[in-house]
Amino acid sequence: MDPQREIQMHGHPNRAGWFTAGKVECDPIPPPREHPARIILLGPPGVGKGTQAVRLCARLRACHLSTGDVLRHAQCQHDRSPAMQAAIECMTRGELVAEELIIELVRERAGCLRCQGGFLLDGFPRTLRQAQALDQILADLGIQLDAAVCFELPLDQIVDRLSGRRVCPKCRLTYHVTAQPPSAAGICDGCGAALEQRADDRPESIAVRMKLYEEETQPLLQHYERAGLLVRVMASGSPDEIHLRAIETLQRQIDVPAPIAAPA
Ligand code: AP5
Repeated sequence: MDPQREIQMHGHPNRAGWFTAGKVECDPIPPPREHPARIILLGPPGVGKGTQAVRLCARLRACHLSTGDVLRHAQCQHDRSPAMQAAIECMTRGELVAEELIIELVRERAGCLRCQGGFLLDGFPRTLRQAQALDQILADLGIQLDAAVCFELPLDQIVDRLSGRRVCPKCRLTYHVTAQPPSAAGICDGCGAALEQRADDRPESIAVRMKLYEEETQPLLQHYERAGLLVRVMASGSPDEIHLRAIETLQRQIDVPAPIAAPA
């Protein structure tokens, strides 16, 4: 079954707490787990972090906490603060959002990091300063990371994934025009809305994002390697093949629950 649909069918939390900084509770509230997975996802833009996060969350029963999703959610709101408006303009150009704003955005969502269902943090940290801020936030909460999973792929394949990406503006499902097409061209399988291309998937923004990844985010790999947390996963092949590879690698490091049986 398509993991995006599987999550919908199994009543995965709607992440309201993450989108509203705790003003609205998630529905359903994730049940506590004895060993909740606490993982960060690293890797270049378009390598497939979001695609893998959906599958990993379904398997690990954890929540997908994406800073990019928070910014895109804010883009649809009318009452944006000037700081948030500036952040959205940075995102459209492919630039990184100001450190203070993004660190504050995560700090005010610390309740989601404490969630007893666990989390997959995607898009944060992206710089050494953000990694140090996250270390501090987690230390204050008394929480330890289990792993930093880095997906890796040659640049030409990444650019192909980004330029073919289409997203649903309503229910946020992600597609690719050839690798993961919807049943009807240009229409979301989940809700029937017309699919769109992300503004930052234009060639000029992709170039900015790749350069920033090399300069700002790649040095983080050393940070997590030194902490004994770095797990590298080759992101070639189909999404399901990559998922199995990621699970096999993670099983050496954390307690991975058995897959949820498909409904009869
Ligand atoms: P964010 O949303 O985090 O974007 P990103 O890191 O650039 O990653 P993407 O969402 O573009 O790609 P992905 O790796 O999730 O790939 P996906 O699964 O969609 O951040 C966006 C912006 O927000 C940043 O540029 C910045 O401005 C700002 N921001 C966020 N956090 C920040 C921070 N901490 N500090 C400062 N600024 C911040 O897959 C891509 C495509 O490939 C899809 O079409 C998919 O269908 C397809 N695909 C996936 N897997 C496969 C496969 N195996 N085979 C073929 N196609 C595949």
